[in-house]
Amino acid sequence: MREKLVAGNWKMHGNLSENKALLEAIIPQLADLNRASCAVCVPYPYLFQAQAVLQNSNISWGAQNLSQHEKGAYTGEVSTSMLQDFACKYVIVGHSERRALYGEDDATVAAKFVAAQKAGLTPIFCVGETLEEREGNITEQVVARQMDAVLAVAGVAALAKSVLAYEPVWAIGTGKTASPEQAQAVHAFIRGKIASASAEVAAGLVIQYGGSVKGANAAQLFSMPDIDGGLIGGASLSADEFVAICRAAQQV
Ligand code: PGA
Repeated sequence: MREKLVAGNWKMHGNLSENKALLEAIIPQLADLNRASCAVCVPYPYLFQAQAVLQNSNISWGAQNLSQHEKGAYTGEVSTSMLQDFACKYVIVGHSERRALYGEDDATVAAKFVAAQKAGLTPIFCVGETLEEREGNITEQVVARQMDAVLAVAGVAALAKSVLAYEPVWAIGTGKTASPEQAQAVHAFIRGKIASASAEVAAGLVIQYGGSVKGANAAQLFSMPDIDGGLIGGASLSADEFVAICRAAQQV
């Protein structure tokens, strides 16, 4: 049985006092989780705070991006060793907003995936199609292309030490969730594609769904056979919603 993982992606939200209130509200309510894990991926400046507040809890923390370079003249970038300084466990790699707004192509995403793993961080590797691609019936081709870029440089065994997140771009922040059946179909495709390279890696791989997950729809999504939790944007900023989603992962 794969463990379910719910990770919050705060995106560019929060401040010191709101974060403190949010984290302090969720910690006691999630203290008894034993069949699901949960994590928050916070903006870089708040990693120090996340570490300080979460270090004695069962909630992990991580970042939303990283540089593929180890160090050097890369103004504004943040390296893996900096993330290690704050004991990050996870880092999101290849989120669709990074791909669409900051020009991260498949090769860059693959380089970031490799850099994260080299530093012992667990990448949460995001894939997903746009509405246009879904309507053009090329969802599987797009997801396969995104996965192949990482498989080509990292190899299938590396996926065993990662988390995959299927996030249809049309469902992110739009309130339009993929139906459990739509999501399950793509998750099964992803797992099947990995199984053709390694049945063992495929069986153990945690594949999260992301895109307008809320307390009200989480249990239905997470009860699908290939959906192993979620990557949560908007709803991770509300303690009640995030706790409800994590509890759904614990119960299914
Ligand atoms: P959403 O975002 O839950 O607000 O749709 C998900 C994500 O972008 O990770």
